[in-house]
Amino acid sequence: AQDANSLAMARRILLTDESYNDLTLHYLRLLTGKTPLRAAHGRDVLVVGAGVAGMVCARLLRAAGHRVRVLEANRNRVGGRVKTFRGEVWQDPRLRAEAGAMRIPSSHALTLALADRLGVARRPFHLVDTDPTPDLTSGDSRIVYTSWTGETFSTGTRPPYAAPPALGSRLIHVNGQTVTKAVYAADPRPVNKSFGWDSGQTSAAALDQALATARSYTQTRNPDGTWSDKPIEERVDGMARLLHDLDGYSLRRYLTDIAHWDEPQIQAVGTLENLTSRLSYGFLHSALDAVDINPAVTYFEFTGGTDALTTALAQDLSIEQDRVVTKVVLEPSGRVTVLAAPETGPEDEACAGAIGTPVHEYRADAVVLAVPFAALRHVDFDPLLPYGKRRAINELHHDTAHKVLLEFTERWWEWDEDTWRSRTGDAYRPAPHGAAQPAVGGGCVSDEACRFVYFPSHPSDQGAPGGVVLAAYNWAEDAMRFDALAPDDRHTEALDHLAALYGDRIRQFATHRSVSQSWLRNRWALGEAVIETPGQLTTLGPHVATPVDGRLYFAGDHCQPRYHAWIAGAVASGVEAALQVNSGA
Ligand code: ARG
Repeated sequence: AQDANSLAMARRILLTDESYNDLTLHYLRLLTGKTPLRAAHGRDVLVVGAGVAGMVCARLLRAAGHRVRVLEANRNRVGGRVKTFRGEVWQDPRLRAEAGAMRIPSSHALTLALADRLGVARRPFHLVDTDPTPDLTSGDSRIVYTSWTGETFSTGTRPPYAAPPALGSRLIHVNGQTVTKAVYAADPRPVNKSFGWDSGQTSAAALDQALATARSYTQTRNPDGTWSDKPIEERVDGMARLLHDLDGYSLRRYLTDIAHWDEPQIQAVGTLENLTSRLSYGFLHSALDAVDINPAVTYFEFTGGTDALTTALAQDLSIEQDRVVTKVVLEPSGRVTVLAAPETGPEDEACAGAIGTPVHEYRADAVVLAVPFAALRHVDFDPLLPYGKRRAINELHHDTAHKVLLEFTERWWEWDEDTWRSRTGDAYRPAPHGAAQPAVGGGCVSDEACRFVYFPSHPSDQGAPGGVVLAAYNWAEDAMRFDALAPDDRHTEALDHLAALYGDRIRQFATHRSVSQSWLRNRWALGEAVIETPGQLTTLGPHVATPVDGRLYFAGDHCQPRYHAWIAGAVASGVEAALQVNSGA
């Protein structure tokens, strides 16, 4: 059984339309100039929000021949949830680290093709730990997108690169036990048993198995255990049935009722695979995330920092900063009036300061609202927006994510025990959980404060001897525990935790120039990203990106359900909004 909403959302998730066109391929060609967009009638367009979605949209519209201005609330930077901590934030100003987007799956052709087109260099990002090899920075590996139409799109110059296998040297720290990931993979039982789950299966294998029911709606399992996509007609139909059957399921309900997991298994796999914070969210989000975040995926990062992408996007766009939009009026004349105010507040975008009275007034034929719905909640619309749109803006669930970044003067995570001995001399103390194993990238999982730790993927940035560790990357409840703390206390807690994993011997290299990013308490993001609660995808989803009255358009990763919380979602939605503005939809 299918309903219209499920079918509409299925098409959006698969980036296709009633005629089964491949929209990804279409967008790739638009983004790279292979198919130019041309304005039949030039419009005055105001884009609100200089994040990836807004800037992608603005660039396409400008190239098409429209008159485009961009407004941005933040007076210090553009880029939205792409944000690189660099410069004087660190004791060593050569260092940089990501507050937001940090890893791009090789399957995200929209993001990578855009970056290649803009000349933004990329290199591997290592989700799993690997040997530091001298050859890692030779980026630009070829990206190939193969469509169901038989056509292909490719970008990049060097042969494709595939992520190396994990060394397994990073740590799992749960229920008071600490083992390496390799030890867990070889014998998962002791760790599993500490949760009361008496199983010899790894958490990753268990999750993979649990997702089989959902997968089989759109894919078929091959004899060797791998999965292949069904023909597009069947995928659309299957995705619509999946939404119809399961959009109302939370992840927990799916795991208990469909996968038949008991509570100890939910706790064990949930803790190790970052599911516990998402158990109450819509099941489909975690199923989609599992496609993009798993050890078999190859990732890239932008060599100059993720903000190299947003800096390139902002290049010669006309962006007015310090413009907080407070009111949008659809005039009877057919024009749109937008009021904007300046703001006061700290440079770090924390929740302080105030929005002033609106002193700026803009008029346009079309307005693209490319800011999170969490921000649109604070904008007045006259007349009221349509009912479905208002519900979507006000109810769509936004998650929170928190990153704590610690600077060290030495890259101790790349050392073996002998290096530790020679670098620390008489002060040498052995590691608490087995001898140090040298590696770059990868990270640890823990059931304590710092749920996920990530180490830098490359041995050094611009010759800096030190580096920055992402000591905590937490979602939802796990993020809120840090959101609630004052910044100094976050850093103390994260360093204490890292020292519990790697020994007090790491403290001598900590610079105490640490930074943290609460995306909930970022006054312009007002949340990390949309992650729907059960049922929201099919009830609110159809209203999210729909234009209003041929004058108001919406963009942002929340508008593209396949890629919430990814740059690719922002890119796709920016293209979609540009197409709508251009055609006057
Ligand atoms: N693209 C993000 C990442 O790579 C995913 C964020 C998902 N967020 C969440 N709260 N589940 O980490």
